Amino acid sequence: MNFYKIARSLLFRLDAERAHHLTLSGLRIAQRLGITSFLRPNVRQEPVKVMGLNFPNRVGLAAGLDKSGNCIAGFGSMGFGFVEVGTITPRAQDGNPKPRLFRVREHQAIINRMGFNNPGIESALDNIQKSRKGFDGILGINIGKNKSTPNENALDDYLHCFRKSYDHADYIAVNVSSPNTSGLRELQTPKFARELLSPLMDEKEKLKEDTGKNVPVAVKIDPDMGDDQIKDLSDLFIDLQIDAVIATNTTISRKNISDHLLSDEKGGLSGSPLNARSNEVIAKLHTELKDKVPIIGVGGINSKKDAEEKLSAGASLIQVYTGLIYQGPALIKQLAKIED
Ligand SMILES: Cc1cc2nc3c(=O)[nH]c(=O)nc-3n(C[C@H](O)[C@H](O)[C@H](O)COP(=O)(O)O)c2cc1C
Repeated sequence: MNFYKIARSLLFRLDAERAHHLTLSGLRIAQRLGITSFLRPNVRQEPVKVMGLNFPNRVGLAAGLDKSGNCIAGFGSMGFGFVEVGTITPRAQDGNPKPRLFRVREHQAIINRMGFNNPGIESALDNIQKSRKGFDGILGINIGKNKSTPNENALDDYLHCFRKSYDHADYIAVNVSSPNTSGLRELQTPKFARELLSPLMDEKEKLKEDTGKNVPVAVKIDPDMGDDQIKDLSDLFIDLQIDAVIATNTTISRKNISDHLLSDEKGGLSGSPLNARSNEVIAKLHTELKDKVPIIGVGGINSKKDAEEKLSAGASLIQVYTGLIYQGPALIKQLAKIED
């Protein structure tokens, strides 16, 4: 039995959110003591250039695990070539009432309705500055809007986080696809999406001129939209010269776990039951984007085979969240050696 299997059997006896906080606290302490570098697996790095950035390998930590940006070097030491922190909103918020995180173990899945609990952009940037020390991979900052901000004013929230993050991020991910902030997914309809993304891309050009630094913009989409919407969005992404698409966020579908006791819990489903749908969305995007916009593939990666399927479907990079909870850091080491 390896160390993670023992740790997991203890952690899985706890409520899911408690286990999450305990793990992150442990990682943070290890990071502060400077002992995470000893955890670093001997990953044979296979650098890849995407969005004009040099990634040490193709495997990233998906948003939502390090929401506050406290553990970047800690996750980096597991072998991740890139870490995406957030989602971060302008002001701190508590998120939804607990319980809001559920393990669906029989399906190697999670249901969450966290609702962007985060310390707000100012505190998160303080955390990021501290915790990225020693991390030599790529840092993504994932931004969103506060729950109390109506969609008509969403742009203000995204612009605020965008400007604040620009200096600190290697890329910025615009999250318009979480199912746990009421109305957020409406921002993916082509009309709203243009109204949001066009000014953000203009702002990027301004900041690029002012700072001399180019920070690519990635947009994260959901897996529950139809082919027509994927096509319309793809056209928009090409038109606005979006730097990457992250596909996908969690699903509201329960088709693949309909027999499970927890299937009625509201929120986004991640892990194995999402894998096939995420691949379909990536393949459709790949066709529509015609290699003009790279894809970051995420959703249900639990093995090297799953990762290879994402790359075959058209992804240039991959991200993992739920697989890490079930398989532990050994998965990252395995995945970092994937071949095209
Ligand atoms: C508990 C939890 C919280 C998440 N929070 C966020 C978030 O804040 N922002 C975001 O863009 N995605 C968030 N996600 C979605 C993941 O980044 C990822 O897109 C999704 O879980 C599919 O990948 P996976 O099957 O490897 O977990 C969250 C996922 C989980 C399980």
